[in-house]
Amino acid sequence: MDAGLLISFEGIDGCGKTTQLARLVDRLAAVRVKVLVVREPGGTRLGEQVRGILLDPATGDIDPAAEALLYAASRAELVATVIEPALAAGQIVVCDRYVDSSLAYQGAGRGLGIDRVLEANLLATRGRLPDLTVLVDLDPAVARTRLASTGADQDRIERAGSEFFTRAHAAYGELAARWPDRILRIDGDGTADEVEVRVDAALSRPLAARTGIVLEPLHRRQPA
Ligand code: TYD
Repeated sequence: MDAGLLISFEGIDGCGKTTQLARLVDRLAAVRVKVLVVREPGGTRLGEQVRGILLDPATGDIDPAAEALLYAASRAELVATVIEPALAAGQIVVCDRYVDSSLAYQGAGRGLGIDRVLEANLLATRGRLPDLTVLVDLDPAVARTRLASTGADQDRIERAGSEFFTRAHAAYGELAARWPDRILRIDGDGTADEVEVRVDAALSRPLAARTGIVLEPLHRRQPA
């Protein structure tokens, strides 16, 4: 595998994607595969500064195009300085959010249009879309309840109204229909263990086909 592999995890806030990402990374580590994990926005010095601007409620409302381009700027720096070099070295890169977040949140959520935001992101990513995307699909109302139950302060994006998340959620479904070979849509309703079984069922085969990596079966983790 000399071209590396780019896997992204996507879904609306509160869907549980970061938990599933961490579980996959653990399972890869268990078969001695080390991966590079990055999160967006952020992951570089510029990206972390831009992340601060984007997520700080003090930034307030900004122009949707400005918002999309800030996310794209963070992504461009990350792709150029971290993701591309890692892929060129044959590594597996796992992204907690990538272009599809911009297509769903800025394209649909903010109403800029998926294709216009995609165009800006093809510039930012040098045309590098993920090889595989795990989309954790959860009803926006359920996701919102989950988020509220954590008691954490809401960031600037999370403060957008429920209609924003309904539009973003619908857009993720459109993206899955548009890229059926790339985007694996997983039902995110249920416990983390239940969702992990679904991720495993969807991801194991394409992962093995692309990399030869065979994950250990999940039942090894059942309580003794
Ligand atoms: P973060 O705290 O990383 O949230 P999460 O754990 O849900 O990934 O904050 C990132 C926020 O930015 C999140 O609300 C999604 C949003 N976002 C966009 O609107 N567009 C993008 O391109 C990206 C990467 C994130």
